[in-house]
Amino acid sequence: MILILDFGGQYNQLIARRVREHHVYCEIMPWKKSLEEIKAKNPKGIIFTGGPNSVYDDASPKVDSALFALGVPILGICYGCQLMAYTLGGKVGHAAELSEYGKAEVAFDTTSKLLKGIGANEICWMSHTDYVTELPEGFRIIGKTPTCPAAAIECEAKGFYGVQFHPEVNHTPKGSALIKNFLFEVCGCKGDWTMTNYIEDQIKKIREQVGDGKALCALSGGVDSSVVAALVSKAIGKQLTCVFVDHGLMRKNEGDEVEQIFDGYFDSHFVRANAQERFLSKLKGVTDPEQKRKIIGAEFIRVFEDEARKIGKVDYLVQGTIYPDIIESGLGDSAVIKSHHNVGGLPSVVDFEELIEPLRLLFKDEVRQMGLELGLPEYLVYRQPFPGPGLGVRVIGEVTEDKVAILQDADAIFREEIAKAGLDRDINQYFAVITDVRSVGVMGDFRTYDYTIALRGVTTTDFMTADWARIPYEVLDKVSTRIVNEVKHVNRIVYDITSKPPATIEFE
Ligand code: XMP
Repeated sequence: MILILDFGGQYNQLIARRVREHHVYCEIMPWKKSLEEIKAKNPKGIIFTGGPNSVYDDASPKVDSALFALGVPILGICYGCQLMAYTLGGKVGHAAELSEYGKAEVAFDTTSKLLKGIGANEICWMSHTDYVTELPEGFRIIGKTPTCPAAAIECEAKGFYGVQFHPEVNHTPKGSALIKNFLFEVCGCKGDWTMTNYIEDQIKKIREQVGDGKALCALSGGVDSSVVAALVSKAIGKQLTCVFVDHGLMRKNEGDEVEQIFDGYFDSHFVRANAQERFLSKLKGVTDPEQKRKIIGAEFIRVFEDEARKIGKVDYLVQGTIYPDIIESGLGDSAVIKSHHNVGGLPSVVDFEELIEPLRLLFKDEVRQMGLELGLPEYLVYRQPFPGPGLGVRVIGEVTEDKVAILQDADAIFREEIAKAGLDRDINQYFAVITDVRSVGVMGDFRTYDYTIALRGVTTTDFMTADWARIPYEVLDKVSTRIVNEVKHVNRIVYDITSKPPATIEFE
């Protein structure tokens, strides 16, 4: 395994992605971890990430110099490179006029192992003000630009390498080759980490952990909970019970689809709690968005609790926590899960001993790959994010059975047409909303007074900020025509052209 020591750089998850793309397993660890904890991982190589600090600040992250005596190869990137040089006795300079941001052509000495197969002049992505001005003993320069004399350095005898640029980003076209060289030529990795092996490994671990105990999983039908349910089901079969709380606020046919997949294909017990009426009666007359969310969250727990009580004491609770959740929550040892992901604090209402979180070291695309390998259908594995309160936050105003049904039909048409137009993987989230606005229209010779459906489509990488998707007019036209023709009580369609911020992705 390769250990990535995190110094707070913005591309750190990308470094891990790049390493795993070469079928080498890696983990990210905060720089603060002790030497003992690092040694315990027995890494074949260590990568120091970039970071926002300057090595001369007293408060900036440092490493124990004993790390360099472990006999483990190290690749330092940006701040990581400066830190390595500084810790080993070199010097780092700061010159605002020599800052480099963006693409730079680096002249390489291609005799270095790190640069095998890479050209003598390559475009690399720079983002720094500090740079190495004096090399530590035993190092030599293997890459430079007119403004950065030590853009790449090495001490081959010890397996220490440093680059001032960012090999992990796409703007450094040969960056992946450089990382590969570090993994294979320098660290001697084999590149035999595959999802198939990982699944087998996890299944073995889950079986050992659970023994003959009982486990419980809250299945929402989303990607993460479906994949974790499939994996644990494969490992312990009937010892697992999956509880799917159907609040009646799923997209069209979604509840039945989840039941079909999990009731037939997998070996675990599957319980579908059909609780639509419970939810609708609690939501009757409620229009305030926050209150709606709270009611749905609380009722969800109550329904789950009722089902869990029927099962009796369980030993383990299965959760689909994934790596970005853990990284975003500060890389703690125990996962502080974003409230979004933790279906409203289940652990406190279910009596269990331990958590099972077999996806906690996987990235989203790896979770999807696992899902496919476990036999889940593509439509489920590539499903777009769907909020916990479901259509409850897409029915503006009071949630009624009729409004939910109208929305489900309109939303299904929108999704179908986006898929037909081949846009489903380009637009990160797209859905319909039933507004509380009714307006006058004319159909045939008759006056109508019906609902307005709003369509929302966004492009985003992190869902924290988002831009409205430029869906072609022809596609919008087709969707609009179909909805007003096929869905009763809708006579007007609008498209939301606000980005986030100032709007949010959901309407409520
Ligand atoms: P907003 O509306 O805050 O949404 O811009 C950002 C992303 O989060 C999803 N979302 C939720 N997901 N429970 C969830 O699991 C929720 O309560 C929730 N609210 C919003 C939303 O769909 C979008 O992807």
